[in-house]
Amino acid sequence: MGFLANLNWRFATKEFDITKPVSADDLGKVLEAIRLAPSSYGLQPFHVYVIEDMKLKKDIKANGFLQKQFDTASYLLVFCARIDKDDMRKRVDEYVELVAHGDKMEKVKLEPGRLIRKGSIQKKSKDEFICWAQKQCYIALSFGMAACAELQIDSCPMEGFSKEAVDRILDLPDNLNSTVILALGHRKLGPKNEKTRFSDKDLFTHI
Ligand SMILES: Cc1cc2nc3c(=O)[nH]c(=O)nc-3n(C[C@H](O)[C@H](O)[C@H](O)COP(=O)(O)O)c2cc1C
Repeated sequence: MGFLANLNWRFATKEFDITKPVSADDLGKVLEAIRLAPSSYGLQPFHVYVIEDMKLKKDIKANGFLQKQFDTASYLLVFCARIDKDDMRKRVDEYVELVAHGDKMEKVKLEPGRLIRKGSIQKKSKDEFICWAQKQCYIALSFGMAACAELQIDSCPMEGFSKEAVDRILDLPDNLNSTVILALGHRKLGPKNEKTRFSDKDLFTHI
């Protein structure tokens, strides 16, 4: 199927067929798509927990309106935003090291970019910074969902859970906040309704 046909095929799956698990190979491809997602300044300010453990899935379900996706999914990908500015300043230095591959001259060339990145972090309020990091989670989430559609893996993006509870369940360090979950599996049933989308006219202005 082509790209748009795949996007029409996908839907926010409400329950997965537990007899049809997602293979480790397919999971790896979805994670690679997430890794390849673009991010602001290339800093990828997030960390993804890949949950296979049934006890953790059930604990999340208990704090997620008992939605069936949580414990029928083969994997729950919990996108966590990196919410600590000091941590992100260190990440800028790590990013420069990654780009420079240890080349001192290259690092000198990258110095303006390093300062711009640190300045951008510096001038954001705490709330703006968290919002920025969370936005990057959603871009990565979208790449993961698009990869699922391409691979004919079903998925459901999910915000319907208590973030405080999930942070506690996963025992997240202080610099991480759970933001959004992508449940992966194979659909138990097809979509109940046809796709509902607002019109081109509603969504786009050509000028
Ligand atoms: C950020 C985000 C959070 C969502 N959270 C939930 C959720 O908690 N539970 C759920 O069943 N669907 C959730 N959805 C799915 C949307 O309801 C669904 O994508 C939308 O109605 C369009 O339908 P479709 O994805 O089947 O085309 C979420 C979607 C997004 C993008």
